Amino acid sequence: MDIACTPEELKLFERIGKVAQQMNLECYLIGGFVRDKLLGRATKDADIVCVGDGIALAHAVAESFPHKPTVSFFKNFGTAHFKLHGFDVEFVGARKESYLAHSRKPEVTTGSLVDDQRRRDFTVNALAISLNKSNFGTLVDPFNGMQDLQDKILRTPLDPDITFSDDPLRMMRGIRFANQLGFDLLPETFEAIQRNKERIKIVSAERITDELNKIMLTPKPSVGLDLLYRSGLLKEFFWQFTALAGAEVVDGKGHKDNFYHTLQVIDNVAARSNDLWLRWAALLHDIGKPATKRFEEGHGWTFHGHDAVGERMVPKIFKQLKLPLNDRMKYVAKLVALHLRPISLSKEDITDSAMRRLLFDAGDDLDDLMILCESDITSKNKQKVKRFLENFELVKQRLKEVEEKDRIRNWQPPITGEEIMSMFNLPPSRDVGTLKTAVREAILDGIIPNNYEAAHTFLLEKAKELGLIDNNS
Ligand code: CTP
Repeated sequence: MDIACTPEELKLFERIGKVAQQMNLECYLIGGFVRDKLLGRATKDADIVCVGDGIALAHAVAESFPHKPTVSFFKNFGTAHFKLHGFDVEFVGARKESYLAHSRKPEVTTGSLVDDQRRRDFTVNALAISLNKSNFGTLVDPFNGMQDLQDKILRTPLDPDITFSDDPLRMMRGIRFANQLGFDLLPETFEAIQRNKERIKIVSAERITDELNKIMLTPKPSVGLDLLYRSGLLKEFFWQFTALAGAEVVDGKGHKDNFYHTLQVIDNVAARSNDLWLRWAALLHDIGKPATKRFEEGHGWTFHGHDAVGERMVPKIFKQLKLPLNDRMKYVAKLVALHLRPISLSKEDITDSAMRRLLFDAGDDLDDLMILCESDITSKNKQKVKRFLENFELVKQRLKEVEEKDRIRNWQPPITGEEIMSMFNLPPSRDVGTLKTAVREAILDGIIPNNYEAAHTFLLEKAKELGLIDNNS
């Protein structure tokens, strides 16, 4: 074998080769599995291409196992797959044509191995390993994919205009591979992306976002995001993000380029957490800036309220990109809304009540919010960054102290709405809400301690004030 396989993988490939031989079919391992094995990366699923009917081969291989795994197949695409101990094996018949430029329907015409390799996205993804008896385990590489793999280059087997027009998602895949594998797109490949960028519009938002998320999950997402921006692709499907780019100057006063600042923040978060949604919060933390940008005479650039505007933009962007409209979205919106709060606490005389409010508002997401805020400190001035980070440490310390003392995180006020109703014999009404809010605010402001007795006494006073109970009672 020209690639290093586990004994189980080898056994599986030998079995596939044997069944294919009985059917008089040539067959090969191809695509990401071969590429990743050669790069020493972890592999998950294996793609098998055969010169003939891939669906029939999949069924025959499955039948050869005592437990006969279930085969799923897509007749229109000529593909089939089954799972084996969590490992997905995909089969396809070699094809000559891929996708017709003007439609998304594949045209399946049978071809040779090299026809099939030619119509794949990148030479490094077109590397094949023979599973045939005559040359089992040998690399078949008509497009010099091995050389490109060694040189870390992404090159299309055909003219890139044709390859990208066959399936425009490949432009995003190219950028994702560049980012994920640390490869370079050839200049002519990159130029072809710039030329064909508008074709991405025919690709579904789900497929685009899937690639975008893979970029977001790399150790340094800024590499892929910058390529997406410079190629012009990003603007085609996510104009709100590219609207952050650029720095205007008025009266000699400029502001930072918020696009590149955001990329830095995403990388900073990525260095501290693998969580996709926290990375999304970093991507969106300043998204409200273009809409709130003002130049104030004698003062300079301001972005007042960009946190609240950004928070409101989150659901629209999630919908546009077909991201989940669930608690993950709420989490991102919440972090965008709160992203200025911790740092503002480092600038003023910090009161316990301001600390308690942040603990209450952030709840369980406080640690993530602190990661985001710390990552948001990106000044080029090292002294300034150091000073900010030191102040930030103080905020963290104080938050910890207040939390230990008051236990506000995930806190519920000591008296519930139901208890208030029975205390004053009230039906569900506005007064109940007023009393509930009053007691919560009094505790957060430190007017009364966080316990039942204090809350009870406070409520009696408040109810008198509101005329809900007699002043003499
Ligand atoms: N392929 C292609 N064009 C696409 C998608 C896939 O030519 N738009 C081909 C490539 O040869 C690719 C193979 O199909 O290697 C398998 O595709 P897929 O499993 O989506 O990608 P991998 O290359 O395996 O990489 P990853 O799993 O990281 O997405």
